[in-house]
Amino acid sequence: MIPVMRPWLGAEEAAAAAEAVSSGWVAQGPRVAEFEEAFASAIGVGYAVAVSSCTAGLHLALIAAGIGPGDEVVVPSLSFIATANAARYVGAVPVFADVDEATQNLTPATVEPCLTPRTRAVIVVDQAGIPADLDALHDLCGSRGITVIEDAACAVGSVYRGRPAGAGSTLSAFSFHPRKLLTTGEGGMLLTPDPDVAARLRRLREHGMDLSAAARHASRQPVIEHYLELGFNFRMTDIQAAVGLVQLGKLDQLIARRRLLAQRYQQLLGGLPGLRTAADPAYGTTNYQSFWVLLPDDFPVSRDELLQQLAKAGVSARRGIMAAHLEPAYEGFTQDPLPVTERLTARTLILPLFHELTESEQDIVISVIVSAGRALARS
Ligand SMILES: Cc1ncc(COP(=O)(O)O)c(C=O)c1O
Repeated sequence: MIPVMRPWLGAEEAAAAAEAVSSGWVAQGPRVAEFEEAFASAIGVGYAVAVSSCTAGLHLALIAAGIGPGDEVVVPSLSFIATANAARYVGAVPVFADVDEATQNLTPATVEPCLTPRTRAVIVVDQAGIPADLDALHDLCGSRGITVIEDAACAVGSVYRGRPAGAGSTLSAFSFHPRKLLTTGEGGMLLTPDPDVAARLRRLREHGMDLSAAARHASRQPVIEHYLELGFNFRMTDIQAAVGLVQLGKLDQLIARRRLLAQRYQQLLGGLPGLRTAADPAYGTTNYQSFWVLLPDDFPVSRDELLQQLAKAGVSARRGIMAAHLEPAYEGFTQDPLPVTERLTARTLILPLFHELTESEQDIVISVIVSAGRALARS
């Protein structure tokens, strides 16, 4: 079976993980600190705080932004459910906004109708790696005192107006889940240019302690720690960070390969009338974290039927991005109609795209879609 995604992990990552294990320090320690520094410098932001997942990162970002019960947080419904869930973790109400069809991202036009006097934050997602137009959203939100948090889970190495995605936000969160380009097994990273915010995030991820376990261990004197506020155990391990450091060194290669294969998909599927694919927006580039195709209304087979045909040919594709408001966990949450979201979630699928995908494997994927669409091309 051709998988939808396979992480690019090898002997170097295995050696780095083994080295962390043999060092005897496997919890959050020197390798996490090194990974944070390397990641902050790769993206070009002052401070990076490693966490156990992007979900944990979004949770902490909302706490750091002072969001709590009674507040409204505007989020896209068209996102992995963690984006909306994060608002609920802090007692706030997620309010779903629709998205732009070409980028699958929030825009000022989709967010503005959702703003109320209770709106305190907007979580802007760089969906599938395509950077959102953050400047436009900052213009909308800044004057109203609304915090913009960037869910850059999928966007490591994407570029927004000449800078790495995540670099222009006061808080951005990345994921290192194996579905993402760069993986640590599970893991996430928060970025902020503000040293005070970074210090609070470090405290929050480690039970609210006023100094880290690693710092306590390094001290030659007995140290009595204090717990300054309600915190969490959202730490990354040094084993994960060791893997992350190797993966970060491969990021440029990972992106170059993705972009090459994505271009090939675009060229070879380009003959199907009306079919749209993930693509660079006018103001930046995507890392092609996920390569989605949007089937035109007159495509001869349904999206789910096409997924079946792909599976029969040994291709593990996926439905497109989910819509949280359609899930049972969001029953009872009201929102205005989300026509673009509903169309995208029903009519898109995600094709295999990963570093070691071969051209002949890609040709199998393409041939299934092209033969399914042949009736359309003839009409
Ligand atoms: C947009 C978005 N936000 C958040 C997450 C959650 O990331 P993690 O699995 O690291 O918690 C994901 C993961 O798929 C995602 O795609």
